[in-house]
Amino acid sequence: MINQKLEFPGDKSISHRALIFGSLSSGLSKIYNLNIAQDILSTIDCLKKCGILIEFKSSYTTVSGNNFVDPLSPLECGNSGTTARLLIGLLASRKINAEFSGDKSLNDRPMERIVNPLKKMGLKIVSNNGRLPISIFKSKINGIDFDSNISSAQIKSCILLATLGASSETTYYEKIKSRDHTENMLQYLGVNIKRDNKIKISPMLNNFKDFIIRIPGDPSSAAFFAAAAAMFPNFSLKIKNILANPTRIGFYKVLEKMGAFISWSNLRYEFGEMVGDVDIRSNILNGINIDYKMVPSLIDELPIISVLATQAESPTIVTGAEELRFKECDRIFALCQNLKEMGADIIERKDGFIVYPGKKLYSTNIKTYDDHRIAMAFSIAGLLTERLNYIDNKECIKSSFPDFNKYLKKIIK
Ligand code: S3P
Repeated sequence: MINQKLEFPGDKSISHRALIFGSLSSGLSKIYNLNIAQDILSTIDCLKKCGILIEFKSSYTTVSGNNFVDPLSPLECGNSGTTARLLIGLLASRKINAEFSGDKSLNDRPMERIVNPLKKMGLKIVSNNGRLPISIFKSKINGIDFDSNISSAQIKSCILLATLGASSETTYYEKIKSRDHTENMLQYLGVNIKRDNKIKISPMLNNFKDFIIRIPGDPSSAAFFAAAAAMFPNFSLKIKNILANPTRIGFYKVLEKMGAFISWSNLRYEFGEMVGDVDIRSNILNGINIDYKMVPSLIDELPIISVLATQAESPTIVTGAEELRFKECDRIFALCQNLKEMGADIIERKDGFIVYPGKKLYSTNIKTYDDHRIAMAFSIAGLLTERLNYIDNKECIKSSFPDFNKYLKKIIK
């Protein structure tokens, strides 16, 4: 029996936001356990080009800002949709002229979802047919009454951040709540924000206070190892100090519904976010139906859920997940192709997939489409085969979890 106790690098979503909110204060903010994956380095690079001071110290990172300047060269967001969408909103609020670009995958992702509402707010913004590169120009912007037909924290955060520099308030509505870290931080930092069925936020250009934050472990990175613990009978896992925000732990609820033993302890609030420890042990797993209501809380975990589903005793049906097609790659296509290659019985649907379990899985050559979560999900899937999978691009894992392989070695020793 392997009994592992693991702690994971800081949550990626909160890391982006801690840097962004630190940039709004002229004081010195301290960030402990910042995730320093490639996506976060992209945010740091872009902010530095806009005049924000960010320094790595031995055990924390400092940010000091509120002196935004027009960047002299394009802001390269790399592979990170969060960097591009959140910084476009932030810099619109700071009246900055800037051009944004990304790598091949990011330049192909839809941006009209932020371009259209920002235009309605009065921002002068020019995109490449609804995609990156995007240029924004200093404009007087107003708040907006916006009903989003997509549950996306990136769209929501872009609009909320832009509103900070607007001349009137914004009302934002999304049918199913997406991750709410931006709202939590805005509230924590004293911005006038009301949150019920709709979000109402007032502008606040200056007077942001500096802060000290310890970022809890990333539940999306931990999910790959939690899945392994749920699938392998000789493995029990305790994850310490992990983010337990209800908008982020849909995956752990799914594990429980599938039959795994899940137990949360030591739950508390830190910096407006719920944090705790979770224990995971395997059991006989049953399949599960996942629909549009659950999707936002486990959107990044669907690749590893598809792998888990092959080990259940009954089928798993995922619907309402069309957003997966617009991630770092078309994840519905990528996961279905790779699982089929491994010998699984999986049907691809426009908005999801169906996994019929019970097939023996074989190791194969995995096509990651340069997507970090496909690479990690199929590294874990390889543990179910006699040999491991060959992953065509392991480098892309650095986008979110550079130490993934070190963690993997801990569980396959
Ligand atoms: C993120 C939001 C999600 C998620 C992404 C990170 C964020 O994207 O998939 O990995 O930090 O706001 P959407 O908001 O587009 O669903």
